[in-house]
Amino acid sequence: MTLERRQVIWALLVTLSSFFLLGTAQPLTADDPSTAADPSRGYTLLLNKAYVPRYFDQQVFDQVWQVWPEPLRSAAEKATSEQRRELAFARYGLTSRPGDNTGLPLQFVVDHEGNWTPNCFFCHGGSVSGAPYPGAPNAQLAMQTLIKETRATKLRLGKPFDPVDFGSLLMPLGTTRGTTNAVIFGVILAAFRDHDLNILPGIPRPQVTHHDMDAPPWWYFQKKQTLYADGFAEKGHRGLMQFAMDRSNGPEKFRAWEDDFRHIFAYMESLTPPPYPATVKPDLAGRGRLIFEQTCAECHGTYGEPPEYPNRIVPIEEIGTDRVRYDALTREHRQSYRDNWFSQYGKEKVLVNTPGYLAPPLDGIWASAPYFHNGSVPTLWHVLHPQERPTVWKRQTQQSAFDEQHVGLRIDELSPRPAGTNRASASPEIFDTRRPGKSAQGHRFPEQLSESERAAVLEYLKTL
Ligand code: HEC
Ligand code: HEC
Repeated sequence: MTLERRQVIWALLVTLSSFFLLGTAQPLTADDPSTAADPSRGYTLLLNKAYVPRYFDQQVFDQVWQVWPEPLRSAAEKATSEQRRELAFARYGLTSRPGDNTGLPLQFVVDHEGNWTPNCFFCHGGSVSGAPYPGAPNAQLAMQTLIKETRATKLRLGKPFDPVDFGSLLMPLGTTRGTTNAVIFGVILAAFRDHDLNILPGIPRPQVTHHDMDAPPWWYFQKKQTLYADGFAEKGHRGLMQFAMDRSNGPEKFRAWEDDFRHIFAYMESLTPPPYPATVKPDLAGRGRLIFEQTCAECHGTYGEPPEYPNRIVPIEEIGTDRVRYDALTREHRQSYRDNWFSQYGKEKVLVNTPGYLAPPLDGIWASAPYFHNGSVPTLWHVLHPQERPTVWKRQTQQSAFDEQHVGLRIDELSPRPAGTNRASASPEIFDTRRPGKSAQGHRFPEQLSESERAAVLEYLKTL
């Protein structure tokens, strides 16, 4: 496709997307309670307002089953349209919206024209105990598969590509189910802008290290003072807008949308983790709590009343988990975030030289498998048993079966073939910890505990 054609399509999309924006900007003032940041307004905005160009339209989504592999395609052919929608939701990791029976996905804004535009829940809205849970990481998302198959459907139907289709030809979107290359999307999009977010012409694509990340749960947001795996950025409403850096959004859009993101910030602050749904053995958990407080609390904090959270960043050599993410977001990237509009030109604290990874709060930790920033460890039991973590693993079913005994994803461990010879390990359903950015090593702190101490800590973790 020629550059002109691309620009025409972009221009069209800008027009389209500005057409669909709902609501008007009302400046918020802290003194006036009627316009104070409102969590429920934040949630409504996330569900209904498109901030980036659409990914595809309703017709494409309804027809996508035709490009599926067998035997799924035949199953879809025989199914009712409702069953087909369910098959598609399961294939791509989409859910319905809580308390809503319209069939609309939590993860997309769908407007009256049938345009499907991803929202933050695309990565930050999943399910817990089989029910949709906004703010839970979308551990089922199959972004690369979704975009590849909707692109093939557009070709079949003779429809024009959307910006995401070009993006996905230029870089991997996410090589395993539940993880995405989101950090690098941000790095690339930021490279084309100056500090005031004006789009600069003629900038070459930056050198980057593609890698996949598991989105953190939003119910950590309340406690955290600094965000991201390396804890480099103080939290603020502007930083939440990085996801909207599509080229069709100039600096004026960011300024106009600031109040929306004050509401979205308030919504994120209001989220709480789901309680563990099964019974917990109180004596064992009580013992686990004492061990946790001696062994883990210095980094992960305490969970009594009031809770205490140290916001501690652990040097990369000491934590020893996969370091690709740490190296991929460079000092220069963090410096440019420090100098730009997102951090209020450095008014919010930015750690340009962050030493390693932030120890996250562990509230609701039972519900956010897989673990570590790259999603390399399927259960809490495996976090507690560093020597027994699987090298190559696969979820047992697409609908995350919960492993109550190990607390996390129910998986099959596959026998590792020599790297590079196992064609199947390129499948998004297989997590091969030998691939770059996917190591499950490190965080060996639990090794100092006996087997019965680890069982007690596992029980305690269910109560957080
Ligand atoms: C394509 C997937 C994707 C989408 C869409 C997305 N995020 Fe994220 N988000 C991530 C990933 C992955 C991380 C982890 C990045 C890191 O730690 O370096 C993250 C991290 C964050 C964090 C830091 C959380 C923490 O505890 O450190 C916040 C806040 C956040 N995202 C907000 C948003 C908002 C608001 C939107 C929508 C406007 C959004 N995200 C859309 C994937 C996504
Ligand atoms: C020296 C600090 C430190 C100590 C001690 C420590 N941790 Fe961690 N922990 C971290 C850091 C940093 C991470 C993030 C690592 C990553 O994502 O790569 C982490 C991650 C985790 C995670 C995964 C969190 C998630 O959302 O994926 C769990 C679970 C966990 N730790 C449990 C424990 C338990 C249980 C103990 C005590 C036996 C413990 N940790 C001791 C620093 C520590």
